[in-house]
Amino acid sequence: MSGTRKAFAAYRIVTCDEARATAGDPLGAISEGAVVLEAGKIAWAGRRQELDPALPVTDLGNVVVTPGLIDAHTHLAWAGSRHGEYAVRMAGGDYEAIAKAGGGIVSTFRAVADATPEQLRALLVARLRRVAQLGVTTCEVKSGYGLLPEHELKQLRVIASCANEADLPGVVPTFLALHALPPEARADRAGYVRRVIDELLPRVKEENLATYVDAYLDANAFQIDEGRALGERARSFGFQLRLHVGQFADIGGAELAAELGAHSVDHLEAVGDAGIAALREAGTHAVLLPIASFTLKQAPPPVAKLRAAGVPLVVASDANPGTAPTESLPLALALAVRNYDVTPEEALLGATRLAARSLGLNDRGTLRAGAAADLVVWDLPHEHAIVQPWGTPRTRLVLRNGVAISG
Ligand code: NIG
Ligand code: FE
Repeated sequence: MSGTRKAFAAYRIVTCDEARATAGDPLGAISEGAVVLEAGKIAWAGRRQELDPALPVTDLGNVVVTPGLIDAHTHLAWAGSRHGEYAVRMAGGDYEAIAKAGGGIVSTFRAVADATPEQLRALLVARLRRVAQLGVTTCEVKSGYGLLPEHELKQLRVIASCANEADLPGVVPTFLALHALPPEARADRAGYVRRVIDELLPRVKEENLATYVDAYLDANAFQIDEGRALGERARSFGFQLRLHVGQFADIGGAELAAELGAHSVDHLEAVGDAGIAALREAGTHAVLLPIASFTLKQAPPPVAKLRAAGVPLVVASDANPGTAPTESLPLALALAVRNYDVTPEEALLGATRLAARSLGLNDRGTLRAGAAADLVVWDLPHEHAIVQPWGTPRTRLVLRNGVAISG
């Protein structure tokens, strides 16, 4: 039996295990710790001195080991480039005005429409390999740049095809059903929304292409009644929900998300007290996206109020070509700490255990016996060093299900 077991010892094993957490140590860290891996799972975690002496141990030295990072909000399956629009924005152009003029999401829609499935898959796989180097072992990936059924299905099939590749991070596929109105549908908005709900959603179900359904709800995007119609139908098909809410304006998206039992509401720069109360009641996760608000030069969401209400905080990259042109979840953690007054512990829990929970993945995000052997050996001496704004990967080894996906 012990032949198939592998033990690693390190200066610090940060378990993120709720059962080990205390008020003074919310991450449940073990100093001079060890983990034992077997058959793709964690068989044991504890103090090195309590390790079975019969087991051969790899001593990793003065480093920190954490669960694999989980990025709960990305748009990684895109094509093209939005560098021109970025330059316009930096010169004072406004994101929503650019979108109205046919830039933004719609310009990525054109590039995705032109890409073959093979091209799109190659782009996504290359990005997944890069995020693995950054310590990410699971990634939520949204569609939402296809907009028209054939392209949306193409994007979703590409995403779903990467869901379980042994040498890549795991992928949780999300159908971002209402993201922007394609120019072809401008004359008939209601008809477009109806076709997405009545025709595209059943196709996505039939082909089993997504776990989650999402919609971009905002003053200049889709409205509450449109989100409700989509969300109710999606729930009736057995999809779970995560929703883009309050990126620019509070139109009641948090209340709707709570009403529909969404697993997460994402962005929340604009959310009022009633929305926060509804999230608390429903136990909905708040997904903070500090790279997007940094790029758009926006004020942070009301993090102190969300924390005080007991809303679980998740931090994600929002990786996309427009508002978060980076793939780095560690950068999102650094910005959450720097700009959102999120503590390093909150940031790390929000990219491990709570990110996993927001994605319905209860076997990941912690280093405890029985969980998947998804872990990162950081070339860093302490978990607080992870949330500094490194410009380069600081991982030495990244395992998913016990298999090296980087390092
Ligand atoms: O999460 N807000 C809408 N969706 C993306 C932006 C997508 C884009 O600009 O391409 C976001 O920030
Ligand atoms: Fe997004």
